[in-house]
Parts: sequence; C-alpha cells; structure tokens
Amino acid sequence: MSSKVIKGFGRGSKLLGIPTANMCMKEVGHTADPMETGIYCGFARLGDVVYKAVVSIGWNPYFDNKEKTVEPHLLHDFGDNDFYGETLHLRICSYIRPEMNFVSLDDLIRAIHGDIAYAHQKLAEPEMLQAGQALRDLDTGAAAAATPGAAATAPAVAPTAEDQAADEDGGDA
Ligand SMILES: Cc1cc2nc3c(=O)[nH]c(=O)nc-3n(C[C@H](O)[C@H](O)[C@H](O)COP(=O)(O)O)c2cc1C
Repeated sequence: MSSKVIKGFGRGSKLLGIPTANMCMKEVGHTADPMETGIYCGFARLGDVVYKAVVSIGWNPYFDNKEKTVEPHLLHDFGDNDFYGETLHLRICSYIRPEMNFVSLDDLIRAIHGDIAYAHQKLAEPEMLQAGQALRDLDTGAAAAATPGAAATAPAVAPTAEDQAADEDGGDA
C-alpha cells in the first residue's frame, strides 16, 4: 500500500520514543480496512531506499483512538527528520500479534521493543528479504529517474539503527 505520510498525534516520538510515519487512510483504507487489525512487520520504501519496518494497524486501544490508523515505524535512526508529505510504499510481510491495551505506557513501550526485536530477525529471512528487494525494484514512477544509477548501487535494505550503532563503534565485521 502507498500513501503520503501525514501527521498523527505526535505521541510516537514524544511519549514513546518510537516515531511512526502515519499513512493517509483515504489513500490506503481500501487495502487496510479488510485486514485484521494488529501488529505486523514488513518493508517501507521512501524514495529509492527500503527500510525494515514494524507496523501497527488498528485503533491503538491504549490511547482509545476513534479512527483506524496504519502506522509504520521504520527500523532506522533518522535523527530529528520526519517525512510529512513524502510518499511511503509499504509491503506487509508477516503478522506479529494483536493490538492490545496495557496497564502502563512502559508496558506498551516494552511490547513495541519486543516487536522490533522480532522483526529484525524475521525480516532477515531469505524469503522476507526477497520481498524487500521486490519493493526496491518496484517502479514507483518517481525518484529513480532523478538519480540515475542510485537504485543499482544502493543496498537492498537500508541499515537498521542497530547496524548504524555497530558501524559507529568501529565494528566492520
Ligand atoms: C510496532 C507497534 C506496536 C504497537 N502496538 C500497540 C498496541 O499493542 N496497543 C496500542 O494501543 N498501540 C500500539 N501501537 C500504536 C502506538 O500507540 C502509536 O504508534 C502511538 O500512539 C503513536 O501514535 P501517533 O503517531 O498517532 O501519535 C503500536 C505501534 C507500533 C509501531
């Protein structure tokens, strides 16, 4: 599914420390509505770059949202950058768990970190990486023409925050 990234309630970055790129439901509703609500993992593409992602689809019971949302969190450290207005292409690959209510914010944060850890492993499986590659090869009719050669040389899936940290530690293994 593809849509522009829109502003959510801003709780992801501020309250949870886990920013999400909220998708526009007018654009993705026809795909997301028939899907079971829950937490998934897959790949997200911005421009020519594909990232691993965890995705919440549903009503965020902890916050008692009134509208269904699709919220990918990309497994990459973007610093303070956001992507409002950019087009995000999302390929959901695997279901992780139902969305749940929690007794505390800490419990919600802990659960999301568990989802992230699971996704790191799951998305490294060969058939999953193929799905990431297919998303990178998808002709979105944008970006590629502006940066000839970029798609051919970029890694199939961008480094995750953990990979980035390992690089900064000087680890080249
Ligand atoms: C991987 C992942 C798992 C999530 N699991 C839950 C959940 O079980 N229950 C819940 O209420 N919200 C869950 N959320 C949604 C967060 O509450 C939501 O992303 C956060 O409130 C930020 O929303 P906002 O961008 O609209 O402010 C999850 C989000 C992610 C990315």
